[in-house]
Parts: sequence; C-alpha cells; structure tokens
Amino acid sequence: MAISVLLADAKPTSRQELALQLERDRGLEIVGEASDGRQVVDLARQLRPNIVLLDSAIFSTDSLVVIDQVIAASSDTEVIVMIDGADMDLMRRLMRAGARDCIMRPVAPDDLISTIRSVYQVGAKQREAQSNALPSHESKRAQGEILAVYSPQGGAGKSMLSANIAVAMARAAGEGGKAPRIVLVDLNLQFGDIDLMLNLSPQNTIAGLAQKGHGGIDAELLEQYLTPHAESGLKILVAPSTPQYAESITVYTVEQVMETLRENYDYIIVDTPSQLQDTTLAVLDSAKTILLLTSLDLLALHKTRTALEMLRQLYEPEKIQVILNRANSDVGISLEDVENVLGVQMRARIPSDGKIVVTSINEGKPFVLYNETTTIAKRINNLALELLGRDPIAHDESNNGQGGGFLKKLFK
Ligand SMILES: Nc1ncnc2c1ncn2[C@@H]1O[C@H](COP(=O)(O)OP(=O)(O)O)[C@@H](O)[C@H]1O
Ligand SMILES: [Mg+2]
Repeated sequence: MAISVLLADAKPTSRQELALQLERDRGLEIVGEASDGRQVVDLARQLRPNIVLLDSAIFSTDSLVVIDQVIAASSDTEVIVMIDGADMDLMRRLMRAGARDCIMRPVAPDDLISTIRSVYQVGAKQREAQSNALPSHESKRAQGEILAVYSPQGGAGKSMLSANIAVAMARAAGEGGKAPRIVLVDLNLQFGDIDLMLNLSPQNTIAGLAQKGHGGIDAELLEQYLTPHAESGLKILVAPSTPQYAESITVYTVEQVMETLRENYDYIIVDTPSQLQDTTLAVLDSAKTILLLTSLDLLALHKTRTALEMLRQLYEPEKIQVILNRANSDVGISLEDVENVLGVQMRARIPSDGKIVVTSINEGKPFVLYNETTTIAKRINNLALELLGRDPIAHDESNNGQGGGFLKKLFK
C-alpha cells in the first residue's frame, strides 16, 4: 500500500513543485492539499494520511499549533515540517510540538522521499509497539492537556473555578492509579490573584521567567519558577506582582511556557483574563478544552453568546464547554433560557455560595479542600474527576448525565 501524503503549503507553486517531486515515487500517494492551518487539521481528520508535509509558514494558525492539532486529530499521522534556513531554535520547538522531522528548503527530491519513508516506518513501528504495550487511553497522551478557563465577563468566577478545580485535580491524583501531574498558570498578567486565593508566598513569577528565559525556556528552568501548593501537591506559575511587568510577557513566552509544561505535566489549567489579548488567544489555541463560564444575567449571557460565536469559528465545537456559575440565583432567567440563547447544553452548574466562596478567598483556603461537603465543592470535585477521565462521585443532589430532566431540579 502506498504511503499517503497530505501537502500543506500556502503557496500553490510550492505545492505543485512538491507534487512533481513526490510523483517520482510510486510508493507515495498525495491524498490532499491544504493551504491554511485550519484546512490542514480538517483534512488530516478526514483523510488520516500517513504523512503531513507542512510548510512552517502555513497561513492562519501557528505551525506549532497545527502540528499539535493534526496529531490530536489523527493518531495515524506523522508530521514533517519544511523550514527556510537552519533555524535550530525553530526546529527544536517544532520537534517538541510533535513534528517527526524537519527538512530545510530547498528540498532535494531524494532527501524528501527518503525522509518521508523513514518517518513513516519509524512511526508505524512505534504505533505497533504502543498498541501492544499500552492498551489504555493514556498511551495516546504523551503530552499534557491544556484546560483554559475563560469568560468575557470580569467577575464571572474564572479564578475561583481555576484555583479550585486545579486543587481538586491535584488532590485526586494521589487516590490510587498513576498520579497525574497538575499545574495551574495564572495568565492574568496585570491583575493576577491566584497567589492570594491559594495563600501562596511566591518567590518567582512568570515575569521573572520571561526575563530569565528570553533565550529559551526549558523544563528545568521553568520548574524553578513554579510555586508549590503544599496542601494539594499542585504547582502554580504565578502572575507578575505588578501590572507593569505584563508587557514583558510575549506570546512567544506564553507559547514556550505551554509547550514546556506539556512535557512534564498531565494537565495544565490556565486562568485567563476577560480581555482577549494575544497571550490569551495563544492559550485558547493550544488548549484541548476551553471551559467558558457564564451566569444567569443578561449582560453575561450577551457577552458569552458573542464569545461563543467567535470561538466556534476558530475551534471544533467539542473544545468549548460552557459552565454555568451561580446557577441557582433566582433572577428571572432560567437554565432553559440560557441553553436556548447559547444553543448548547451546560457541561456543569456551579451554585452560588457567597459565604463559602468569599470566606475561602479571604482565608486563601480553597473550598474543595476545606469545605468538601458543600454542594459547590462537590460539583467542582466531580467536574475535576470527569476532566481526569474518572467516574464522578454520586451525590444525592448531583447529576450523573446529560439531558433535560435533572436540570430542572436545580430551580426549585
Ligand atoms: N459560585 C459563586 N458563589 C459565590 N460567589 C462567587 C461565585 N463565583 C464567584 N464568586 C465571587 O465573585 C467574585 C469574582 O470571582 P473571580 O473568580 O475572581 O472572577 P473572575 O476571575 O472571573 O474575574 C469573587 O469575589 C468571588 O467571591
Ligand atoms: Mg480572575
């Protein structure tokens, strides 16, 4: 059987040239061509080619993100990237993102064909070895998953949810089985507050990391900039101590941080600001899941709908999961209204509990640890377990499935 190849290059002339080169070998078959990042991922998902030959300057999406998404979309596919010139740093980042090989332009036809063949063979061998050795779903997750908590509305509860869900996931880690490693990143570069919420006294922040790591960030350096939360085992990359440092943190830094964390952590929870800065978008791009928080008020709903429309243009619908916060507020808007307006079912509902939440924030003691038996803690704990791929704990009040009936119970 021929090795199937998807050509991904913005320039039609360059695609033609590659096609001519590959046609010389009957053992290779070009099954599709793509000119921008989104198309590459879509076609990889549909066609599941053996090889994606990707130009590093592909349009619309960062090539690192494209690699990541292609691998996630088709486990049968290996990515080879063509780059202009010997940029070692770029090559390193491409390989870390999951590219199997990089070829420098101009590409000699024989080199191209032999690279494709050897990448295909190595990939096929590895897959065979993996499927024999590791039957579980964990075999696929060589790299950590990014969960971004986002809402276009300030005060929606992003930081409250991020801190508590990260602690809940970290604490779940020790309960038998292989312990997943959890890290929380405070991406509120101007006004981060996770350190307060978790009562941390950070020695280092992302600002120091950006400064120290401007030549490149690796896992060892990054580890020195994480602050541990002793009670749960969670690690935190804390936001800068003052707003003026925010500028020094570029998209490049954030991308490097995310890539590097994915090597050593199974889940990376990111608390984001409401503004869609380029750094926020970089994280939303690389996230496996976006937890989009909304609440039962008209302004929040309006903003959520606008945000959802935008996110749906950028990402697959499964990536965006809407969570209703302060779900039991009696404010004349029902859950059905919310689901109708947004056109989605809520992934989870978090009740309002001023006393617990505010005391927990004031004392820096996350309620999932210190007030475990409250409904709000149980809901967040169960969401954490679900995100870890474990079974939620059945509580009398909780829902264990999707659908309409149980949702109504929420509104007495
Ligand atoms: N479910 C809830 N019940 C009660 N208070 C909440 C709840 N969610 C958030 N809050 C309160 O709302 C405020 C804003 O929450 P926060 O997590 O800082 O929002 P964001 O990070 O989205 O700006 C906090 O003071 C918190 O006490
Ligand atoms: Mg916040």
